[in-house]
Amino acid sequence: MPVRATVDHLAALPEPDNVNGATIVWGVRAGRAGDDAPGVDPAVLAAAGFEGKTGQTTTVVTDDGIRLLVGLGDAGPGVFRKVGAAAMKAAKGDGDVVIDALVDLEGSDRVTAAQALAEGLVLGSYAFTEYRKTPDDGWPTKAAVVGKGGKRVADAVARGEATAAAIGLVRDLVNTPGGDLTPVAFAKRAVDLAEEHGLTVEVMDRKAIKAARLGGLLGVARGSSQEPRFVKLTYTPTGRPRGKVALVGKGITFDAGGLSIKTASGMEWMKTDMAGAAVVLGAMTLVPTMAPNVAVTAYLPLTDNMLGPDATRVGDVLRTRNGKTIEVLNTDAEGRLILADALALAVEDEPDAIVDVATLTGACLVALGDRTAGLMGNHDEFTLRVREAAEHVGEAVWPLPLPDHLRRPLDSEVADLRNIGSGPYGGALTAGIFLREFVGDVSWVHLDIAGPSNASSAYDEVAKGGTGFGVRTLVRLLSTWSKLPPL
Ligand code: BES
Ligand code: MN
Ligand code: ZN
Repeated sequence: MPVRATVDHLAALPEPDNVNGATIVWGVRAGRAGDDAPGVDPAVLAAAGFEGKTGQTTTVVTDDGIRLLVGLGDAGPGVFRKVGAAAMKAAKGDGDVVIDALVDLEGSDRVTAAQALAEGLVLGSYAFTEYRKTPDDGWPTKAAVVGKGGKRVADAVARGEATAAAIGLVRDLVNTPGGDLTPVAFAKRAVDLAEEHGLTVEVMDRKAIKAARLGGLLGVARGSSQEPRFVKLTYTPTGRPRGKVALVGKGITFDAGGLSIKTASGMEWMKTDMAGAAVVLGAMTLVPTMAPNVAVTAYLPLTDNMLGPDATRVGDVLRTRNGKTIEVLNTDAEGRLILADALALAVEDEPDAIVDVATLTGACLVALGDRTAGLMGNHDEFTLRVREAAEHVGEAVWPLPLPDHLRRPLDSEVADLRNIGSGPYGGALTAGIFLREFVGDVSWVHLDIAGPSNASSAYDEVAKGGTGFGVRTLVRLLSTWSKLPPL
């Protein structure tokens, strides 16, 4: 079960008799309790230590009845995901939620905040309970966002609810064990979702992957008894599209490292090594309803990285889709091998731009920590566009360079490229430089989500485990595409 709650929009707070025991929540700005919580004695708030800091909560008695107060801090549009999640957690066990928190935000800030609030309400109650005997009950199943603003605000709330459902779906996929979410199971899921959401889908099995000469994907899959898959999803707008975007997602359903085997603790999170593919799939499910005037194609190479008796050996040379050969000197640098084929296929379809999303390097975690994605690319304006999309939706990305001097160490004596550099430093950049070899002169951005794809503990609207990081950035990028000038 991906998410628990649905979210509606109400133009105004309902009359007390119509509330039916729901928890009524008031958003309160820092230092503005007089305006936002009228009739509440400041001494009561002070005694509770409630200052209106973002996500703080407290319960008070007012002339109108009991209210849950949630702090809005500065009430910038960026705080509302956290606010929604905090309200949901504080209301657990107390029925439905009705939240009046949009204060006096106007225009696009109000729309952004309404969407974020709906996302926070749904995501704040996410938990992965699939494999547990004791359910995690008591969460509100219905929430309503209160606030004037007409259709724009109502639409934003609906968009927020749908976005959160897609993120919940990604979290479920990421949290599902690799022994269950095999490449075949993932592909089946993609086919079902494509049918449900109105996307075109094609699936290649091993035979088709061989016929398509995807030597990178085959080379990684060789160590596994699980069959690989390659999934391609397509969205075609009804009108004449203003451009075409390709999305590529790394889909390693479990990364043992291959013969260059990982340590036991190094494998602990490796069921999540398909997060890139899941994020792209999740974003794609939102595209048909959003109906942007841009063609979108998704490319998902799926395999696990095991060390069966016929696994790719260190020193083996793989021939990828575009003819470039790769000497595999570390089988644990497998993501770039499957992405090489997927990027080459994307390029053949002549998109205006490509974004790949991948849990690619531990080095990116070392560089940026576990909440920020590395952003790399070959086209400054496009990279900036992705960065702005991420900023708008509250996903943390930070640019990393692709310095030329790191290209030489990827030269091989026996093949066109080696799959690892020669030294210990700059691993995230080396991986980016490797991928760049497969995009030709198409504008391309690489998002290394090794850190933010997972959370080691819960915070804000994020639960422990898979986060769904990247869905909102991709969706924002696509929904604004046809309104922006061509690259
Ligand atoms: N899937 C890992 C990267 C990773 C590590 C993601 C930790 C999330 C958390 C990737 O396939 C990998 O193993 N990368 C190697 C590359 C190295 C062999 C050049 C790494 O980062 O150590
Ligand atoms: Mn690996
Ligand atoms: Zn990996």
